[in-house]
Amino acid sequence: MKKSLLILTGHSKGLGRAILDTYLSKDNFEVIAISRTKLGLSNPNLSEISIDFGDLDVLENELSNLFPSDEFEEIILINNAGWIGEIKPVGSLQVKNLRNSVNINLLAPMYLTNAFVYAYKDYPAKKIICNISSGAASKPMESWGEYCSTKAAIAMFTMVAAKENSNSQFRFFSVAPGIVDTQMQEEIRQADELDFPQIERFKSYKENGDLSSPELVASKITYLLAHENEFQDVIQDVRNFDLP
Ligand SMILES: NC(=O)c1ccc[n+]([C@@H]2O[C@H](COP(=O)([O-])OP(=O)(O)OC[C@H]3O[C@@H](n4cnc5c(N)ncnc54)[C@H](OP(=O)(O)O)[C@@H]3O)[C@@H](O)[C@H]2O)c1
Repeated sequence: MKKSLLILTGHSKGLGRAILDTYLSKDNFEVIAISRTKLGLSNPNLSEISIDFGDLDVLENELSNLFPSDEFEEIILINNAGWIGEIKPVGSLQVKNLRNSVNINLLAPMYLTNAFVYAYKDYPAKKIICNISSGAASKPMESWGEYCSTKAAIAMFTMVAAKENSNSQFRFFSVAPGIVDTQMQEEIRQADELDFPQIERFKSYKENGDLSSPELVASKITYLLAHENEFQDVIQDVRNFDLP
């Protein structure tokens, strides 16, 4: 049986780690996983690559090596790596952090989406690009200027690519994962309350058990990508459907 291929970013923890475990448990998927941190798992179906998306020169140099041309049943790219950015109001943001946010949340997934479409445009298989966005893409939040704007931009980029490829074997999704119990939420709860007026709301999500588990969200994303014909819109939010 032919294998399938998943290229996944941000696999080292949080939602990405749960997505990685879900696909590795399937046995028929080879996974190329990219984060700064390698997990060092010994699994013959996993290749880990360490790249810091803060430095786009490194990613650019690696792009031509990331997309194997072996015969696969289906090929999936999940751009999941992300950073909440510097949680401070506009006027107090450091230029280095602005640049890092745009590099990690926007330019890295744009580079990878563009290179994926180029590499596989004539490849005869089901091909899916799933860019992890956020509900914050369409809701302005004080002190999340970097995060909201980069997530909005990657959602729009995904919609443009989908429109360009509407009569092809490519499917594109921009997926909001809901509020997930990961290190990103920890970082949000540790923000300076003078900078982040909504901090108590985010602390209460954790205290009241309102955060989704990364495992549940990973199962929903995996379901969506395996049943893509049930999901017509590019913009998806995992909170809008239940697992069967
Ligand atoms: N958690 C939520 O409530 C929530 C809500 C909406 C959307 N999201 C989105 O869901 C995705 C996953 O978030 P998460 O909550 O799982 O976050 P997380 O626990 O902080 O994990 C982030 C992942 O991204 C990788 N990453 C971060 N900076 C990187 C860099 N400079 N270069 C390469 N990889 C980098 C990290 O790996 P290394 O540190 O090893 O590099 C890690 O694997 C993100 O796109 C996030 O924006 C999350």
